[in-house]
Amino acid sequence: MQSKDSLGIAYDVTSSFMESIPKKERKKYGQFFTSRKTAEYMASMFSINYNKAALKLLDAGAGTGLLTVALVERLRKSGYHGDIFVVCYENDTRVLSTLSENLENLKKSLDIKYEIRVENYLTSQSFLSPDLYKKKAEQFDMIIGNPPYLKIAKDAPEAKAMPEVCHGAPNLYFLFWAMGIHNLKDEEEMVYIIPRSWTSGAYFQRFRKYLFHFCVITSIHIFGSRDKVFDGESVLQETMIIKVKKTRKKPLFVKMSSSETSDFDGIKYYDVDYNTIVAPNQFVFLVTSEEEAEILTRVNRQTSTLESDQLQMRTGIIVDFRTRDVLRDSDVDGSYPLFYSQHIRNGRVLWPVGREAEYIVTDRIGYLQENTDYLFVKRFTSKEEKRRLQCGIYLKADHSQYKYISTQNKINYIKCETPELAYGLYVILNSSLYDSYYRILNGSTQVNSTEINIMPVPSKDAIQLMGQELIGQELTESNCDKIIDKWIK
Ligand SMILES: C[S@@+](CC[C@H](N)C(=O)[O-])C[C@H]1O[C@@H](n2cnc3c(N)ncnc32)[C@H](O)[C@@H]1O
Repeated sequence: MQSKDSLGIAYDVTSSFMESIPKKERKKYGQFFTSRKTAEYMASMFSINYNKAALKLLDAGAGTGLLTVALVERLRKSGYHGDIFVVCYENDTRVLSTLSENLENLKKSLDIKYEIRVENYLTSQSFLSPDLYKKKAEQFDMIIGNPPYLKIAKDAPEAKAMPEVCHGAPNLYFLFWAMGIHNLKDEEEMVYIIPRSWTSGAYFQRFRKYLFHFCVITSIHIFGSRDKVFDGESVLQETMIIKVKKTRKKPLFVKMSSSETSDFDGIKYYDVDYNTIVAPNQFVFLVTSEEEAEILTRVNRQTSTLESDQLQMRTGIIVDFRTRDVLRDSDVDGSYPLFYSQHIRNGRVLWPVGREAEYIVTDRIGYLQENTDYLFVKRFTSKEEKRRLQCGIYLKADHSQYKYISTQNKINYIKCETPELAYGLYVILNSSLYDSYYRILNGSTQVNSTEINIMPVPSKDAIQLMGQELIGQELTESNCDKIIDKWIK
């Protein structure tokens, strides 16, 4: 079969190229090639409009052109007979002869026209700010891509060309994605394979704002394991495939799928509510099952946040190795308690425990905080620990002789007006619902207060009542879950 040969041939040609250049060299360009099955899967994700007389395709950072070959093959195989014009950007001159060979084969076997642009995709056209000649961006019907994954300096030409989506030192992959959206026709689709890092956190906020201003997400594929996605390469990045559509019309569902590896064996399909995947704060949740979708739906129904309830979580104030001179191992005159994560035990804060530097002697107000009721939360847990969110209730009444206390920066704290609020926050953060929610939101083991502060929670009044209910009971996860189940349906 002619069409099957195109992709097969393209892979043979690519393998020879890969053997000719050391991996280390290719890494400098962010050059990882897509495996055959992944390329075919990506191509299969597009909806095709068979009535269009012509289609203009874009593959930016085309490498040896594997994605283009897969997409053209899909179009032709499924019966698209119109004209196909492909534009490939690639600025590594070493790969160009391989790319030309693959596209030339495609031209002959599947009747396309093509253009290779040996240009920097990001700096050779203007981004949002209108250029001098007010030229409209070039527009494409279908965009497919595996962009380079490479962190660049914040003053690199690519970053400077796209200030609208950058925050600090950006990664080329989301600049490619942003430029792709710029080059996409309205109501059309683009499919990209990318890392997962853009889905949460402040660093990508500008990019997400831009993305959701122009596009909606229609499909996501999640890979369970970190390697094997790129042919013969093991890339230590958690990757995903995403299809976005340039439109304002949100679909009801995002079509989700997941597989352990890029051979797509045992692939699972499930649809998830759009608003569960894309939360109101524009975080994106990579839900891997229907159970996870339910967790998100429940939490996302809550309309307050710790920030809106004036219950912000903050990071402890003392960096102990920088403040050695004011730390003491025992209770000396004028000392105050200094709390570390080791003091958080079974839902309580136990102090002193006989560790070094548990006391602080200072009159520097920046080193001290009011002695009041708090919820303390560990900032770091190990992968092996069952819970990501581990907290302890600190009550002023337990150490009322002190006017001030202090906290090391490896704990986070939430200041509470009443003991009930401290208990209520404990119910929330010690529940399995919120622990699971946080895991879905953030793959790392660090508890990031910015993320906690904007996650949806019940109102302050409800939190207070939840706390009242817990007082007098054991501080177990199951007791917290029972209370949560009454309040969060
Ligand atoms: C991750 S590889 C993907 C190659 C191919 N699309 C595939 O999926 O097998 C990214 C490609 O982008 C190219 N590239 C990197 N920066 C570029 C830029 N600024 N403009 C155009 N191409 C670029 C690299 O040389 C590399 O071949």
